[in-house]
Amino acid sequence: MLESHALVLARRGDAVYAFQGTCPHEKADLSHGRIEDDRLICPRHLASFSLSDGAVSAGWKNVPALKLYPARIQDDDIAVDATAVESNPPGGSRKIWDLSNR
Ligand code: FES
Repeated sequence: MLESHALVLARRGDAVYAFQGTCPHEKADLSHGRIEDDRLICPRHLASFSLSDGAVSAGWKNVPALKLYPARIQDDDIAVDATAVESNPPGGSRKIWDLSNR
């Protein structure tokens, strides 16, 4: 049941991404982040995270990887793998954002 998890959904062309809603560093709201060159940039301290494997940019020791979840476009919706979310929950308060228009 994804309604109880804080996720951000982002779409860029044909690619869609689902990831935790708060930054692994100090929990900034990642719905205010931006995507550049397949990396998510945190709006607070500007660490960036790979949208392939969640790895944080160089120089950020002890910051865990961003939690990513399989997602795909299905008809007019974005489908997120609920099993993956339940097995590795994002944490943070409930919030679902869509960055497709940013
Ligand atoms: S809160 Fe995201 S980089 Fe610090």
